[in-house]
Amino acid sequence: MADNTTLPAQVTVIGHPLVRHKLTLLRQVGTATSEFRRLAREISLLMAYELTRDLPIELTEIETPLEVMQAPILAGKKLCIVSILRAGNGIADGMLELLPSARVGHVGLFRDHETLRPVEYYRKLPEDIGDRLVIVVDPMLATGHSAAAALALLKQAGATQLRFACLLAAPEGLEVLTRAHPDVPVFTCAVDRQLDERGYIRPGLGDAGDRLYGTK
Ligand code: URA
Repeated sequence: MADNTTLPAQVTVIGHPLVRHKLTLLRQVGTATSEFRRLAREISLLMAYELTRDLPIELTEIETPLEVMQAPILAGKKLCIVSILRAGNGIADGMLELLPSARVGHVGLFRDHETLRPVEYYRKLPEDIGDRLVIVVDPMLATGHSAAAALALLKQAGATQLRFACLLAAPEGLEVLTRAHPDVPVFTCAVDRQLDERGYIRPGLGDAGDRLYGTK
């Protein structure tokens, strides 16, 4: 799956040169917390641009200083960004700079040590989530189990239009997520080589939460 040509059609790798450049800086072990946070925000803003490419547009009449014209505006599509805690917040913050009117939901999941499956510990979502285009964000798509569980609980909560966005994906995580949710478009900035035995994406960027919040 690491070869982009063999990815499922629902997966988009955002190959914009600015995204690729900033991702390289983000990966580097010497990148300080403040710089990491800034880069994650900037990449997320660029991802939001790609994720919203197909939003519907309508025409409205406006007046320029010279004349009246029919001008394009967004056709009232309501958005919701759902952050998978905690590292998802670093992505949500960047997307909100481009999409300031979006509502924000949060989902918290931890891994049960015995079953190794995600267990929900927190959920706060807008009531009208069913009317919104929901962009679910988590920087690292590693095993794919948390992302798949988050999408399942959002569908259960009424969400019908979902997209998933991450900075890096492991082939293993993409396999799990796309099998569980073949209806959900997935956006990533890169597909890395593999998941290691500790659950880290290789070559990756380390622990995204620790690097965003300086907790290591
Ligand atoms: N979560 C991370 O933060 N990094 C990984 O490499 C895998 C999961």
